[in-house]
Amino acid sequence: MKISDFAAHKKSGKKISMVTCYDYWSAQIINDSEIDTVLVGDSLAMVMHGHPTTLNASVSLMALHTQAVAKGAPSKFIVGDMPFLSYRKDLTTNMTAVEKIMKAGAHAVKLEGAKGNLGFIRHVVESGVPVMGHIGLTPQSIHQLGGFKVQGKTPQEYEDILEQAEQLQTAGCFSIVLECVPSELAKEISEKLDIPTIGIGAGVHTDGQVLVLQDMLGMNNKFAPKFLKKYLNGYDLLLGALNDYHEDVVAEKFPTDKESYS
Ligand code: KIV
Repeated sequence: MKISDFAAHKKSGKKISMVTCYDYWSAQIINDSEIDTVLVGDSLAMVMHGHPTTLNASVSLMALHTQAVAKGAPSKFIVGDMPFLSYRKDLTTNMTAVEKIMKAGAHAVKLEGAKGNLGFIRHVVESGVPVMGHIGLTPQSIHQLGGFKVQGKTPQEYEDILEQAEQLQTAGCFSIVLECVPSELAKEISEKLDIPTIGIGAGVHTDGQVLVLQDMLGMNNKFAPKFLKKYLNGYDLLLGALNDYHEDVVAEKFPTDKESYS
């Protein structure tokens, strides 16, 4: 998928599939898959580094993971997340963050929210860097939102998110993530905008879907939000394999002659 394919998919009605990816080995599998596009999400702070929120992701950490993903998935369109506050400083610092993520191998950056970001988004787009927006539940504002919960349920929130979507399109975003919003709102936004929406917890009417790779592979047996579909019972499969290996080692069933040099 190239940047122009986002608009083409919107026009033809073909849905866009996106997954997060943070590392080289899973990037290699995704590269061989039919998945359209990859997000190096700042959720890596939680999934890969065990932090309780995404606030701990830094520009250098995002660049490091983006580099690994770019090496493993050279045929995929890669979006790199701009981490917490990295686009809320002075223009030089903000642009240096964009530069680091792009030079690490991303083809576009994503940032959260419209308020206070529109001028910067215009500048980034005019500098030749595609920008993906992200509204609804914006995890970098978790302490302001008061938790990971569905946004846009009151009429005021609904109108506010709709307005932000239109502003992001006008500012030049090529696509927008809609996270945890009622499907009626995601439908209205998707119908109103010319650019594709990518949903997570936003129902079926968005122009594409994104899931965290480890979530859709069922790697976390304690995480089961309503919006998630697990395509694999990864946790049990991996746990089983580890225990099989352990038992083989203890019972001297591994290695056998087959796995040994004479
Ligand atoms: O960081 C992330 O994984 C994201 C997705 C949830 C859209 O922003």
